[in-house]
Amino acid sequence: MNTFSRLCNHRIGWASIFLFITILPISMSARKVTNFDSGWRFMLADDKRMSDKTFDDSSWRLLDLPHDWAIEGDFSAGNPSGAGGGALPGGVGWYRKSFRVESASPEQKHMAIRFDGVYMNSTVWINGHKLGTRPYGYISFEYDLTPFIIWGGENVIAVKVDNSDQPNSRWYSGCGIYRHVWLVETSLLHIDTWGVFVMPKKIKGDNWQVPVNVVLKNSEGRQPMIRNTLLDKNGRIVARQESRSVSQTLMVRRPMLWSVSTPNVYKLKTEIILNGKVVDEETTITAFREFRFDASSGFWLNGRNMKINGVCNHHDLGCLGAALNEDALHRQLFKLKEMGVNAIRCSHNPPAPELLNLCDTMGFIVMDESFDMWRRKKTKNDYARFFDEWHERDLTDMVLRDRNHPSIMIWSIGNEVLEQWSSADTDALTLEQANLILNAGQDASKLAHGSELSPNSLLTIHLVDIIRRLDTSRPITAGCNEPSPNNHLFKSGALNLIGFNYHHEMINDVPKNFPGKPFIMTESVSALQTRGFYRMPSDSIFVMPERWDRPYTDPTMMCSAYDNSHAPWSSTHEATWDVVKHKPYCSGQFIWTGWDYIGEPTPYGFPARSSYFGIIDLAGFPKDAYYMYQSEWTNKPVLHLFPHWDWLPGQTIDMWCYYSRADEVELFVNGKSQGIRRKPDSHTYHVSWRVQYEPGEVMVVARTNGKETGRQIIRTSGQPYAIRLTTDYIGKDTYFVNAEVVDKEGNLCTTAENDIVFSSDNAEIIGVDNGSQFSTERFKANHRKAFFGRCLVVLKSKSPNPITLRARSIGLADTQINL
Ligand code: GAL
Repeated sequence: MNTFSRLCNHRIGWASIFLFITILPISMSARKVTNFDSGWRFMLADDKRMSDKTFDDSSWRLLDLPHDWAIEGDFSAGNPSGAGGGALPGGVGWYRKSFRVESASPEQKHMAIRFDGVYMNSTVWINGHKLGTRPYGYISFEYDLTPFIIWGGENVIAVKVDNSDQPNSRWYSGCGIYRHVWLVETSLLHIDTWGVFVMPKKIKGDNWQVPVNVVLKNSEGRQPMIRNTLLDKNGRIVARQESRSVSQTLMVRRPMLWSVSTPNVYKLKTEIILNGKVVDEETTITAFREFRFDASSGFWLNGRNMKINGVCNHHDLGCLGAALNEDALHRQLFKLKEMGVNAIRCSHNPPAPELLNLCDTMGFIVMDESFDMWRRKKTKNDYARFFDEWHERDLTDMVLRDRNHPSIMIWSIGNEVLEQWSSADTDALTLEQANLILNAGQDASKLAHGSELSPNSLLTIHLVDIIRRLDTSRPITAGCNEPSPNNHLFKSGALNLIGFNYHHEMINDVPKNFPGKPFIMTESVSALQTRGFYRMPSDSIFVMPERWDRPYTDPTMMCSAYDNSHAPWSSTHEATWDVVKHKPYCSGQFIWTGWDYIGEPTPYGFPARSSYFGIIDLAGFPKDAYYMYQSEWTNKPVLHLFPHWDWLPGQTIDMWCYYSRADEVELFVNGKSQGIRRKPDSHTYHVSWRVQYEPGEVMVVARTNGKETGRQIIRTSGQPYAIRLTTDYIGKDTYFVNAEVVDKEGNLCTTAENDIVFSSDNAEIIGVDNGSQFSTERFKANHRKAFFGRCLVVLKSKSPNPITLRARSIGLADTQINL
C-alpha cells in the first residue's frame, strides 16, 4: 500500500466535511436548490432550430453533467486548439433537457437556473425564449425562468455552447457544461443571487463583529423580518439577530479561529420572515480569521507569521478533463496538503465553487483570479474580444459569488496582462510564441513614464475599484511578469499587494522598488519535469528552450526529474524556494504548478500536449520534487532516495536524497558505504552521491544522534511478471487505482511500457492515464500503457455493490482487486 492509499484510509474526517458542504443547499426548506445535472440530451452539431421547444432531440445522446466533450476526443495536431490548448477538439455543442414543474401558489413562484460554468459562449433558451448569452467560460451565471416557466407542465431548456473559435486559451479549457447546474426555487420575495455578505472582523481582544448584509428581491411594499443565526461546527447557536434591517451586526466572543491547520468554519443561517412564516433562507459558510500582509515581515495569520506555500493550478482533472468531479478535486487538494501546500492560486480564472468550499474546509488560503487577459489578446480568439463589454459584469459576479469564502485572502485582477506595457501587439504571434513572449524581456520604452497616469494604469484603477466596491477586506494584486515599478499596473498605485511572476533574482530589490508595499510571488518556478526520467549529470542545469524564440527539440520528449531543468524565464524548485524562504518580506509564493495540466507542453510541441510544470504528474503520481517540499514544509520525517536502480553496469549514476528530521544520511550500494551526507546549512535542500552502478540494491539510511531513524531500499528490477493494483484514492463514488508492472519479487519495473487492459464489475471506467506528457492514447479507454512502470485507471461506481477491477496484459499474470 502506498503512502496515499494508507492516508486515504484515514480520511473519514475530510470526507464527512466534504459531504456536508456539498449537500448543504439541497437540505434547505423555504428555498429549494435542486441539482439539475442529470438527464440532458447532447449533440455535437449546430442548427438554430435546436433552441425550439418542440425540436426532436430523441436521437441525441443522453448524459449527466458535468460534461466535457473535448476530453472524449482524439489528440490531433490538426485540432485548432493546438498543443498549447491540449490538441483536443472544440466545436459547437447543444444540450437540451425537458422537465416538469409542479404548479405553485403565486407567492411561491420564482424559479432560476444557475450554471456554475460553461465553456464557452453559451446561449440559453427556455421553451424557445432566449434568456441570454454569456461569453466567459469560467464565470457562474443565473437566469430568471419565472416569466417563461409553464407551471404544472412540460418545459425545455436548450443550451448552445460555442467553442469553435480557436485558439482562445493558452491551456486546455474543455468544452461544454463542465460544472454543475442548479434549479433555484424560491418565493417571489427572496434573497437575491449571492445576496448575503458576511465577513467577521476582530474588534478588540477576543471580540469579533459579524456584519451581515442581505439583498432582497421583490420586497417592495413589504417589511419582512430578517433573522441571522450563527452556528458553530456542532450546530450550537453562537449569535442571533432579528430585525427589519438588511444590515445587521452579530457579536461573538472568543470564536474558534480558522487557520490552515485548523480550518474551523461556522454557518450563518439567514431567514426571511413574512407574516410569521419563513419565506426564504440561505446558509453561508463563514469563519473567523485575521490576516495581513506586511512590507517587512510578510504574511501573518491570526497573529502568527508564516509563509504562503502555494501552488497555481488550472481547472482540468487530468483524464477526466474539465468536467467537474468533486472526488478528483479533493484528491488533488489532498495530495497537495500532504506535500505541505497551504495555498492555491486559481489560475487564471474563477474556479468551480466546490474548489472554494474544499479550500474553506481543508485549510487552504486562496488567491482568486479573474482574467488571463484584458483588452489585449494573447491568443487569436480569447476573452479579449469580450473584455470591453463584459469585464465589469464578470468581475462583479466573481466577487459577489466568492467573497464569503474565508479561504480567499487575495483577489487578483489579472495574470500577465499585456497592458503592463504601453503596447505589445500579439496579433501576429502563434500560440506557442505568445506563451513564450509573455516571459521575455520588454523594451523599457514601453513602461510608464512621468507622473500622468496612462490608460493602462487607469484601467488598473478601474478594475480595482470594481472589487473595492464589493469587498474591502482583502488585498488586490495582479500576477505581473514585468517587475519594474514602472509597469503600468504598479504605476497605478492601486494594487495594495505587489505580485511578481518569476524574476526571483529581483526579489532583493523589492524593498527599494516598492517601499512600504507588501510583496508576494504570485507565480514562480516553472521547473520542467517528467516523472521517472533523469538527465545526468544532475548538477548541470538544462534550460529548455535555451531562448524563447528558438524551437526546442529533443527526441525523448521528456524533461529531467532531478530538479535540474526549467524554462528560460524560470528556475529550479530549490533556487526560488531558497530566496522565498530567506527573505522575510516575501509573503510566499504560488509555484507553477501543483499538478500537471492539459495543454501548454513547454518546451515541446505536438505530440506533447500536457504540461511538464507540475510537482505531481497528470495521473497523480508525485514527481521527486514533491518530497523536497514535503521535507521543507511539513513536520513529517521525509526520506526520499532517487532515481531507480535499473541502469547499465558501470554507468555513473547520481543518487539524490531529500530528507528531514535526521542528522545525516548514508548511502550503500550492495552493502558498501558510499559515504555519509549532512545538509550543512539552511540553504541545502538535497544531498547526493555520484556512484558506479552495479545490479543489486541501493539503500539509504537516516540517523539522528547516531541512531537509525529510517531506511529506503531500491532494487534492480527483473523481467516484468505481474500487475500490481493499489487504490490511490477512494472518493464518494469515484475510485482511483494505480497499476504497476512488477517483477517476480514485486519490484517496480521502472522502464515497463506494457499495455494494461482493465475491466470491472459494478463500475464504469471513466478515465485512464499514465502521466506521460506526450502520449496520444485516448483518456477515455479501457486500457493504458504503463509509463515508467505505472498507470492509473479511474472508475465510477454504478451500484452499491462491491466493485471488482481486473487488469491483464500480454505476458503478465492477471490481477484483480475488490474495492
Ligand atoms: C506564466 C503564465 C502561466 C504559464 C507559465 C508557464 O508566464 O502566467 O500561465 O504560462 O508562464 O511557465
